Amino acid sequence: MKISIFGMGYVGAVSGACLAKQGHEVLGVDTNPGKVGLINSGESPIVEEGMAELMREVVDSGAFRATTDAEEAILGTDTSFVSVGTPSEANGALSLRAVHAVSREIGEVLRHKQGRHDVVYRSTILPGTTEEQLIPILEEASTRRIGPDLQVAFNPEFLREGSSIKDFHRPPFTILGTTDDAATKQLDDIYRGVDAEIIRCPIRVAESVKYLCNIYHGLKVCFANEAGALLREAGVDSRVAMEIFCRDEILNISKAYLKPGYAFGGSCLPKDTRAFLHLAKTKDVELPMLANVLPSNNLHVDRAYKMVTRMNKRKIALLGLAFKGGTDDLRESPIVALAEKLIGKGYELKIHDTNVHTARLVGSNKEFIEREIPHIEGLLVSSVTEALDGAEAVIVANATKDDLATYAQHAPGLPVVDLQGVEALRESAGDDYQGIAW
Ligand SMILES: NC(=O)c1ccc[n+]([C@@H]2O[C@H](COP(=O)([O-])OP(=O)(O)OC[C@H]3O[C@@H](n4cnc5c(N)ncnc54)[C@H](O)[C@@H]3O)[C@@H](O)[C@H]2O)c1
Repeated sequence: MKISIFGMGYVGAVSGACLAKQGHEVLGVDTNPGKVGLINSGESPIVEEGMAELMREVVDSGAFRATTDAEEAILGTDTSFVSVGTPSEANGALSLRAVHAVSREIGEVLRHKQGRHDVVYRSTILPGTTEEQLIPILEEASTRRIGPDLQVAFNPEFLREGSSIKDFHRPPFTILGTTDDAATKQLDDIYRGVDAEIIRCPIRVAESVKYLCNIYHGLKVCFANEAGALLREAGVDSRVAMEIFCRDEILNISKAYLKPGYAFGGSCLPKDTRAFLHLAKTKDVELPMLANVLPSNNLHVDRAYKMVTRMNKRKIALLGLAFKGGTDDLRESPIVALAEKLIGKGYELKIHDTNVHTARLVGSNKEFIEREIPHIEGLLVSSVTEALDGAEAVIVANATKDDLATYAQHAPGLPVVDLQGVEALRESAGDDYQGIAW
């Protein structure tokens, strides 16, 4: 394929050289004539393992060259990749100046170019940017609409400086966010030589995944460093502890706990976070990220409360009370916290949790709920139908499959706040549905 790449920085130069090596005809575009000159003389504009040799090879073979002339690049290629910089503004906002400028440039040339041209954005941009800003610029400048003659994709780059050539060939995945999967099928050809699953998704999802990855990587480093800082003071070899921690691929290095939804609770996570932070206090170790775990968690109780207030209903059926499904443990349940808040504000609750029977509660579990909601017995009912009887709205918190089936049968049209993320509810409740995760 004939590909132009706008932006000959770390991303553009490396992907350009790698695509050229794979047999594509690549034309790099940069506003910096110094970079263009270096590339055309077979030198790499960046320091990166393997780039000096690769650049010389692909430039000498004629597969890769560069220009400052955007028009030449757009007219001479079928697809333009955009990997210009998106640095931070002084206030932390993302600067879109370069992606806007390139979109306008491409659009203006397309106005008088015959035939189809595809634009693939690779710069890191916030969710919604492609559809709300870049496509409108392209469409206006080119006087084309997205369709047979103009296709747009968002394809985030996952290479890391220092190992970027290796990362190009073996990324964690190839993500193609497109408005029309079939119309952009030829992009699969570009990535045929890359050892990674191709995942197609909506453009906003693709834009988001790039942020999720980078933010999570930062979060992981902070987690390891904060944990390490305290463990060191506690006389622990933190590297050994973390190495063993990472061997748990069931709960730790896994998908577990990574489903956007409602707050965590229970008898262990909050207690153990508090104890770890207390130990840090005694050792004079500051752990700002970990110190914000519980406040962050509590905000989701407030979010849920606000969703309930938005329904403008006072009589509520609450399905679920224990801190998660499959247990009767109410200790530090975020659903209990929500119930308490609602009761305090005068809402009439009828609560059903298949696993919770006040007569059977014992020990610290019983003490906890009697302390938090002293008249809990009067609010708990023994079936979903009883809870729904007279209810004006429903909160689905940790309902069982059977609970949900009964609910769907008896009160399908009621407004609902879904803390559980039940796909079917989202469809059946329509406009009266509020979910915590979508
Ligand atoms: N560096 C990384 O490791 C990495 C990894 C993945 C994603 N990203 C993202 O990719 C994008 C590019 O990052 P980078 O590190 O390669 O940036 P960079 O700053 O190294 O390079 C950007 C290049 O774009 C050029 N440019 C600016 N405006 C231009 C225009 N109108 N036309 C043509 N060229 C123009 C600049 O001269 C520069 O050479 C950013 O959005 C970044 O967040 C970077």
